[in-house]
Amino acid sequence: MEVTNKLKKLVEQVETGIDRFVPPADTRPAQLHAAMRYSLEAGGKRLRPALVLAVAELDSDLQPADPLPAAVAIECLHTYSLIHDDLPCMDDDDMRRGRPTVHREFDEATALLAGDALLTHAFDLLASAYADRPTLAHALIAELARTAGSQRLIGGQMEDLLGEAKGDATAADLEYIHLNKTAAMIETALVMGGILMDWPAERLTALRAVGRDLGLAFQIVDDILDVTADTATLGKTVGKDEATEKTTYVRMHGIEASRQFVETRTQSAVSALHELPGDTTFLEELMHSMAARIR
Ligand code: IPE
Ligand code: IPE
Ligand code: MG
Ligand code: MG
Ligand code: MG
Repeated sequence: MEVTNKLKKLVEQVETGIDRFVPPADTRPAQLHAAMRYSLEAGGKRLRPALVLAVAELDSDLQPADPLPAAVAIECLHTYSLIHDDLPCMDDDDMRRGRPTVHREFDEATALLAGDALLTHAFDLLASAYADRPTLAHALIAELARTAGSQRLIGGQMEDLLGEAKGDATAADLEYIHLNKTAAMIETALVMGGILMDWPAERLTALRAVGRDLGLAFQIVDDILDVTADTATLGKTVGKDEATEKTTYVRMHGIEASRQFVETRTQSAVSALHELPGDTTFLEELMHSMAARIR
């Protein structure tokens, strides 16, 4: 199956899962649940949940646990990070996934609470969906919690904000930001797929290596698109990074070096994939398609 068809199928699965595993919009308090669903249902590439599902079907000899709740949990967590990222006290953005941001459509307090609720729901979902497999539930929860925490996603977001207008940021500062605000969650998506397959530690380490490279490439693609794409195509306001003097790879090294970096990291992610069992063609093509967003 061609990458776009396969991805379409996975995205449909994820969206069915969102509908199934997230409380309906009219659940009391309706304003909160409507805001949670407003942002989740706006779409998005669904890269992280697609990675969970794609890894969880690699080794067909095994009968893995149903990966869908785990895929939905990571999408809830990612969506929370976007809602909070867009708040006036963070990146102050008005558009996300082709719609007004949650604090624009509702209000700031609702956006804050909808983010909190999606973050919490991710763990509730893992704990309840895998309750009959406590070791698995624990491993998934531990993996996601660590990545969402103060030394990874949130730490990356903190340094991203501290880095605004900081003229003396080093390449190492930038790598810290990218590894943590973005690559961490992409690594964890792959690793959660591996945990669902009950893979041994060496394979989880191989997945982390893939995720690290893919994640770094992914954030640089995002930074390039902030300069080269238009708001309608991207579904979020472009030009923000320059306006706020964000420390980005593009700002530090220019567009051409950034494109080259994306190529190198994508190649490196793809070669690390070859250490895994099963047919990794789809994952490989998915990675190339993420890099192709800037072509
Ligand atoms: C946006 O993530 C935030 C970054 C880490 C660059 P995505 O580009 O995956 O956003 P959606 O999920 O497709 O909206
Ligand atoms: C955000 O990076 C990464 C997150 C963890 C949310 P950006 O701030 O560059 O993401 P966009 O461009 O707003 O999607
Ligand atoms: Mg940001
Ligand atoms: Mg932002
Ligand atoms: Mg960005």
